[in-house]
Amino acid sequence: MKKLNIGIVGLGRLGKEYAKNITYLVPNANLVAACSIRKEELDYVKDRYNVPNLYASYEQMLEQQEEMDAVVIVTSTDQHADAIIKAVQAGYHVFCEKPLALNIEDCIRVEKAVAKHPDRITMLGFVRRFDVSYADAKAKINEGLVGTPYLIHSQTIDKDTFAPFQIEFCTTGGGIFHDYNVHDIDLAHWFLGSRIQKVWALGGAYRFPEFALAGDADNTSSMCELENGTMAVLTASRTSSFGHNTCTEIFATEGNLKIGDPPAKNMLQISDKHGIRREGMETFFDRFQTAFLIQIQAFVNHVLENKQPELTMNNATNATLVATALTKSFKEKKPVIISDLLS
Ligand SMILES: NC(=O)c1ccc[n+]([C@@H]2O[C@H](COP(=O)([O-])OP(=O)(O)OC[C@H]3O[C@@H](n4cnc5c(N)ncnc54)[C@H](O)[C@@H]3O)[C@@H](O)[C@H]2O)c1
Repeated sequence: MKKLNIGIVGLGRLGKEYAKNITYLVPNANLVAACSIRKEELDYVKDRYNVPNLYASYEQMLEQQEEMDAVVIVTSTDQHADAIIKAVQAGYHVFCEKPLALNIEDCIRVEKAVAKHPDRITMLGFVRRFDVSYADAKAKINEGLVGTPYLIHSQTIDKDTFAPFQIEFCTTGGGIFHDYNVHDIDLAHWFLGSRIQKVWALGGAYRFPEFALAGDADNTSSMCELENGTMAVLTASRTSSFGHNTCTEIFATEGNLKIGDPPAKNMLQISDKHGIRREGMETFFDRFQTAFLIQIQAFVNHVLENKQPELTMNNATNATLVATALTKSFKEKKPVIISDLLS
């Protein structure tokens, strides 16, 4: 079997899961190298996954790795743009976690670099597109099962226990719109077949005032108008008491599609003296574990089959553009027209 040799950069919360998937669960890939600025993370992947080549410097990994074909980038978001550009310029295929970048200038720099290397496969990880339920909803829309979609409600909600981690994370992750709602923005573009052109974002730090000090929020709600006249309502929250709660509803002319509701851990329903209930999921990874595997398998197949993925860098740029507009709208407390950000 032809196999893809991968080097990974970023071995934090999510990078370790990618390292595990590539090592054990993607049959046509080898994890040949790993890079992190934290020694304990390099020790972790050496001990658990026996990764043969370890680097504290990304540039060194790109220069020295002769057997590597592709780079998987799971660093903090502020590093994504430069990491993608360096990898394509050094001749590697690239997979990078969402979002592409935190500002439009970096997105455009990446698009230009990628355009100069069309023979390299480049893929941005918007994992929800690889979840079986979201993919099924997209197929049903394409079949015309529920008519024409005109409104999407989409939310990204995390359990409150992760808020202390997020207070630190938002310094490199760009805040709640870039980190959470960027998924919902991409879904709105994907399901409604158009681009968001105008936004109005509201929100606040209702439970964790530390987010306000960082110019961020713990709960938000946003109204969006798309170029084709359809609508999106996006919600994000860091304060769920029962668990992770990603959920999307698509309203169409002949029916509705609802994905992820109730956000239950499994199919178990408990009936006892407290009533009738189901338990929630702890994290985004519990919800999207299978989708992350399908997604990295898809990247490996794309490279081996020399086929670019459906989602382009420009799609990822558009998601960052809207996240930037939502952030501006929230901070300035007024609606924002996307094209004004480009002028
Ligand atoms: N798709 C999703 O649902 C989802 C969920 C969580 C995280 N993410 C994305 O994954 C990325 C990583 O998130 P995380 O939660 O694992 O973060 P994390 O803070 O746990 O890990 C970040 C990693 O990047 C490494 N790093 C930072 N700068 C580096 C550099 N210059 N060279 C080498 N390594 C460097 C750190 O050492 C660490 O290993 C983020 O961009 C985030 O947006 C996506």
